[in-house]
Amino acid sequence: MKQIDLEIRRLVFADLPNVIAIERRAFPTPWSLPMFVLELSKPEGICLAAQSDGQLLGYIICSRFDQVWHIMNVSVDPDLQRRGVASAMITEVIGRVGSDAQITLEVRPTNVGAIALYERFGFLAAGTRQRYYQDNGEDAVIMWRTEATLRGALDDVPAALPTPIPAP
Ligand SMILES: CC(C)(COP(=O)(O)OP(=O)(O)OC[C@H]1O[C@@H](n2cnc3c(N)ncnc32)[C@H](O)[C@@H]1OP(=O)(O)O)[C@@H](O)C(=O)NCCC(=O)NCCS
Repeated sequence: MKQIDLEIRRLVFADLPNVIAIERRAFPTPWSLPMFVLELSKPEGICLAAQSDGQLLGYIICSRFDQVWHIMNVSVDPDLQRRGVASAMITEVIGRVGSDAQITLEVRPTNVGAIALYERFGFLAAGTRQRYYQDNGEDAVIMWRTEATLRGALDDVPAALPTPIPAP
C-alpha cells in the first residue's frame, strides 16, 4: 500500500483527544486519558506522534526504567496501518535512545502483526508474563531488542528464556 509523507514529532498534551480516539479504535482495552497524562509528564520518557497534513496518524510511548527503555504503547489509526507509520516511529525511537540501547515491550501472542513488526527491528521473544492481559487472561510475550538480539542471541537479555511464539 502507498507510503505516506510523515512528520515524527514530540507528542504533546494537546494531542490527547486525537490519541484517545485512535486508542479506542485500536485496542480492546484502551488506555485511559490519565494513563497518557502520566506518561507525558515523565521528563525522561520519549513520546512521539506521527502526523501527516496536520492529522495525527499514530503515537508511541516509551519509558525509561534504569538503563532499559520500555515501549509502553504503539498505535496507528486502523485506517492507515501497513503504510510504514509504526516503523517510522520505532526508527525514530531507536535513533534517539541509540542503536545499542536495550529496549523491551510486551505483546499479545495473538498480535501477529505487531510481533512481525518488532521482529523486523531485531526484537526477539525472551519470556512470558502469565495472564498479563486482564480482558481475556492472555499471557504476554516479552520481547527485547539488544546488541545480542540483533545477532539472533539472548545472552545480554535479563532473565531471558527462549520463547517460541505460539501459533494463534
Ligand atoms: C501493530 C501496529 C502498530 C503496526 O503499525 P503499522 O503502521 O501498520 O506498521 P508498519 O506499516 O510500519 O508495518 C511494518 C511491517 O510490520 C509488519 N506488520 C505490521 N502490521 C502487520 C499485520 N497486521 N500483519 C502482518 N504483518 C504486519 C509487516 O512486516 C510490515 O511490513 P509490510 O507492510 O511491508 O509487510 C498497528 O497494527 C496497530 O496500531 N495495531 C493496533 C495496536 C497494537 O496492536 N499495537 C501494538 C501493541 S504491542
